[in-house]
This record gives sequence, structure tokens and C-alpha cells, in this order.
Amino acid sequence: MKKYKRTLVTSALPYANGPLHVGHVAGAYLPADIYVRYCRLKKREVVYICGSDENGVPIMLRARAEGVGPQKIVDRYHTMIKDSFEKLGVIFDYYGRTSSKVHRETSREFFRELDAKKQFITKSDEQLYDPEAQLFLADRFVFGECPNCGYDHAYGDQCEKCGSSLSPDDLINPKSSITNATPIKKKTTHWYLPLKKIQPKLETWINSHQDWRPNVLGQVKSWLDAGLHDRAVTRDLPWGVSVPEEIAGKAEVDASGKVLYVWFDAPIGYISATKEWSQQQGDPERWKKYWQDEDTRLIHFIGKDNIVFHCLIFPAMLMQHGDYVLPENVPANEFLNLEGQKLSTSRNYAVWLHEYLEKFDPDSLRYALASNMPETKDADFSWAEFQARHNNELADILGNFVNRTFTFIHKYFDGKLPAIGQLDALDEELINRISQSADKIGAAIDAFQFKEATRLFMDLARFANKYFNDKAPWKSRKEDITACATALHLCAKMTYALGILMQPILPFTARKIQQLLKIDENSMQDWDNASTFFLQPGHQFNQPEIIFAKIEDEKIQAEIDRLNAATSADDPEIEDAPEAPIAIDDFAKVNLRIADVVAAEPMKGAKKLLKLQVQIGNEKRQVIAGIAHHYEAEELVGKQVVVVANLKPAKLRGEMSEGMILAAVDNDGNLSLVSPEKAMPTGTTVR
Ligand code: 2FM
Ligand code: ZN
Repeated sequence: MKKYKRTLVTSALPYANGPLHVGHVAGAYLPADIYVRYCRLKKREVVYICGSDENGVPIMLRARAEGVGPQKIVDRYHTMIKDSFEKLGVIFDYYGRTSSKVHRETSREFFRELDAKKQFITKSDEQLYDPEAQLFLADRFVFGECPNCGYDHAYGDQCEKCGSSLSPDDLINPKSSITNATPIKKKTTHWYLPLKKIQPKLETWINSHQDWRPNVLGQVKSWLDAGLHDRAVTRDLPWGVSVPEEIAGKAEVDASGKVLYVWFDAPIGYISATKEWSQQQGDPERWKKYWQDEDTRLIHFIGKDNIVFHCLIFPAMLMQHGDYVLPENVPANEFLNLEGQKLSTSRNYAVWLHEYLEKFDPDSLRYALASNMPETKDADFSWAEFQARHNNELADILGNFVNRTFTFIHKYFDGKLPAIGQLDALDEELINRISQSADKIGAAIDAFQFKEATRLFMDLARFANKYFNDKAPWKSRKEDITACATALHLCAKMTYALGILMQPILPFTARKIQQLLKIDENSMQDWDNASTFFLQPGHQFNQPEIIFAKIEDEKIQAEIDRLNAATSADDPEIEDAPEAPIAIDDFAKVNLRIADVVAAEPMKGAKKLLKLQVQIGNEKRQVIAGIAHHYEAEELVGKQVVVVANLKPAKLRGEMSEGMILAAVDNDGNLSLVSPEKAMPTGTTVR
């Protein structure tokens, strides 16, 4: 593997049109922050860049919905998002925004360069136009019937029901999202990135990165197999980075009112934010080392909805420009669901980061999300699991070990590090475990396996806790004080090691450990020192404080109740970006079975839900379904339904749901269960 001199890490620029939720955190920010913190501890040259995505239709739609100007929206959410990142301990070297002057200039310069190198084609055609709002209807400004699945509220860039990528022209009976008017056609000209022509070059490049995550390669492959289409990189919109005037003039196109497509300028935001960082460092040319020197390893952390942009479109822009490095890896995460359902910002079905941070500790969330990161498949966040991770692992294992160690040292040795005596086999094992764990956790982080790294870390804490029990210092203190001193010395050494190794995942707790050990912050900043405990016997420690207080049931129940009160989450929402069509193998992963409903009853305190007992072949399952407004419990008994039989079980209102029943739902919320046309044996596969 190539040795790089420096690493440039980016996380997807969040749209400044709403607050962040846990899905964003698990997707693109926490994994990157863990990775960067580890690189810093390994003393590597690393820069971590992000910023707010402040252009494009998503911002304008939000502004229109609130009846304010887009600037007001981006100012509000930029500040809020930046603040939430800081409180969560996601520490960028620079957090920029795409409304900045440097960004506008950098994006225009990039566009100019591609134009000068004849890397664009221009095409004129008739596009949808809202005569009332006097706007061309790009992307989400237009909705209509999906030509693929018939869903009647598909957007001009994507159908949220079937996931297919669309152009406004594909929509049947299009309507303006702004005025609801039926659009007319109006001629316009745009610049296109000729992806069809670039495809072979992209394929060669992708083929040299077969080490990428299989889910990333899989999605890229389906885009390539379907054949890339040329993509318009300009829009007729009043908000965004305007197309350079001289190019507009030269192309004999009236480019007034034309802006760069948000997905053209947003990734350039990584470059412009790096420039701003360089300026802040007093070394304005430094960004070039990170973007234009082949010894840089560029890594983009994103969610899976951004794969096509980071693995194909932005690399195509960089390749055709010619001066830039290409990403070395794009460790995209899958999605995070919430209590078994898709997160939905519009229905307020989410755990909002700023709200979370007002009530709970940042490290508890970091730990829960890192332990259950959607690295290779979608994962589910549940409040019950969050509580269990905090109480049973952070508090009962890690917290308990540290607390017992220092309480004993204070009780028996006046809070001073006891001297080490003769070592037995278990003591030796503790010492070995520290250095082995440092290597293993590091290797997992280097391989972007954050879930594994977190597991290995907690395993070390678990070993430590058990060591304390096995050594029983409360006994040895009376029987063999030297052995007691040795054990507690080694527990202090272990605490120091844990303090270093936890930093990528639990930075706030690491700080508490440092204060408890009464050592300088700098002495815990080197990963390779995890096994070199430098404190001398007699070193005075601070009094221990509980580092993780248990989270009570009531606090968790309040969060669950809030989610249940959020509007119905029947209707899946897919945000903004087009998805690749799925392969037949992906469909085959869904285990659909015919089931007989054998019993059904309403759920207490949940007006929407019914509790069903279904028979699937030989197996009986309980399924909680949000269909109480559409069916009486009694009428369901004896019906045949289709069940997704391999869905991860989830708790809803305290009841386990072990599957999902398929239903058709129209836009007015009418619902009809899906049944086989003829009676079939229970358990029959549906495909
Ligand atoms: O999906 C999103 O939230 C986009 N704002 C991500 C942009 S990433 C990058 F290209 F800027
Ligand atoms: Zn569709």
C-alpha cells in the first residue's frame, strides 16, 4: 500500500436548512471524527474539513416554507449546526460555508478551468417553467407522477417511493412546488458535464480501488452498469453561485440568473474551506499541498445517499480539471433507522442533536452510535439500546472499573500511586492486553471499522473490570499488601491506557480521566504511549467522581413518548439525493412470506397500533402494525397478509414487533393490506 505523507479528511457538508439528527451523526461525522482523532494521536499530518452547504433548492424550499429569505435560513442553521458539532466533540480543523466569498471564487474558477479545457457541453432545450413564480422548475421545485411506479408526488430529481433518479421532464402531470401551477415549457441553455464520455476513465479509476467497502462499490457498479448520463451543472435559480459572466457572454447564452448546480459547487466547498483554513493558518498556499500533491490521501466520509456524487461526479470533475488528487477512499455509511422506522425530518420523527445535547452527555451518544454504526448495512437506533449501552457498558464496566480503582487507591494508599511488586501471570496478561489492544483498535480504525474498534475498546475495559474482581484488593489488602499495591498500580496503568485509547470515541470522558490522574493534557496525546505508564509511585491522584451516572427509565420513556407522539411514520421519506437502481440480489435480501393472522388486539395507549399474532409456516410471530385507523382488530383474524420476515425485531410501545406487514398507502393516507390473490399455504415465499 502506498505511503502517504498527509491525510485530508472531509465530511459531507450538511445542508443549512435544518438541524442535524442522529442519522447524520452516525453517517458522516462521528466516523470521520473518530478517524481524525486517531490520526492526530498517531501524530500523522491530518486536516479535517467540513462546512455548511448553503446553496440549492433545499435551502430555497425551506426559506419559502417559512416566508423568509434564504440568507436568514442559512445563517440560522449554520450557527446551530456548528454549535452542535462543537458540543458533540466533532472537531474540524475548519468549518466553512458555501456562501463565503472564497467559495464563490473557487467554484467559479473551477468552472472556468473546465470550460477553458473544453470539458463541458452546452445544450439548449425546453424546460419546465412556473409562469406565476417566474422560475424554472429544477429538482425539487417540481413534483408529479413517477413514470416508474406511479407515485403521485415524485420530485423533479427523484421519486421518494421507488428511489429512481428522475429529471423534471420525466414527471407525468408536473406541478410547481411553489405555486401548484401547471408549468409551461420555456427554452433555456445549460452546461453539462459529459459523463457518458468520461465513464471509461472513471471505470479504470474505480477498478483500481477494489478495496473500498462492498456497499460503496456495489452502488457505483450499478450506476456504471446502467450507463452514466451527461449531467447539467447549471441551473436557472436566483440563489447560488452565479455562472462566471465572461463565460456566459462567450457562450452566447443569456446567463444572467444562472447559477452552478448545488452538487457542482458543494464538493468544491471542501477545497474552498481548505483554502480558508490555510489563510487562517497564515500560510495561504498550504491548501495546495493537501489538494494538489500526490502524497495526500483524501478521504470522504459520507452517507450512502451521497455515493454517486463522491465516487463518480466529483471525481469526474477533479479528473477533468487535472490539478487535483482523487479520493483514496470513500467509506460511506448506510442509513440509521429509529426504533425500527425510517427517520423523517418532515414528520419530526428524529432524535435532533441539539435537543439530545441539552439532556444527555455527548459521549453516551458517541458510544452508542459507534457501537452500532451502519457500516455495512442499515442499523437501528433505539432508546432502549442507548440506555443499555450507557448503563450496562459505560457505567457498569468502564465507569465501575475506574471508580473502584481510585476509590481503593484513596482508601488504602492516601490517593497515591502504590509501588509495583512481583508480577504474576494475570498481571502480565494485563500488560500484554494493553499493547495488543492499542494495535488492534488502531488497525480497526485504520480499516474504517469503527464498530469493531469500539467493541475492542470495551473488551479491554471488561478485562480490566474482571482483573479488579479477580485480584480482590479488598482481600489482598489484609493478606498481602504488596500484591494489593501491585494490582492497584496496574489498574492505574490500565486507566491511563484506557484514557488514551478511548479518546477517538469518548473524548469528554478521556478528559475526566486525565483530570482524575492529575496529569498534563499533553501526556495523554500519544497513542503509542498507551503502554508506557510514566507515573512514579507516590504520584498523587485526584478524588474519583462518578464518570457515568446511570440513565433512569423515566428519562428514556420521555424520549420514546415524544417519538410516538410525532406524526405517523408510515410514509417512507428518502431525502434529496438520487439512489442507484437496486440489483435483483438486493431485492432477494428481503424475505417476504405469506402469513395468517391468528389474533389481533388494539394496543393500550397507542391509537394507531394493533398487536397481531401471525403464523408464518411453523413459526408464530408478534407484529405491531400502524393500521388501527383502517382496520378493526376482529376483522383481521383469518386474513392472509404479506410479512417482511427478516426485519430486525424492534420494540414499539414496549411490545416486540417481529416483522412488518405490507400495505398499500395512497397520498391521502388510505391504506389497504396486501394479500395473495388466492389463499396460499402459510409461510409461502413472495417474490
Ligand atoms: O446530502 C447533503 O446533505 C449534501 N448537503 C451533502 C453535500 S456533500 C459535499 F459534496 F458537499
Ligand atoms: Zn417512483
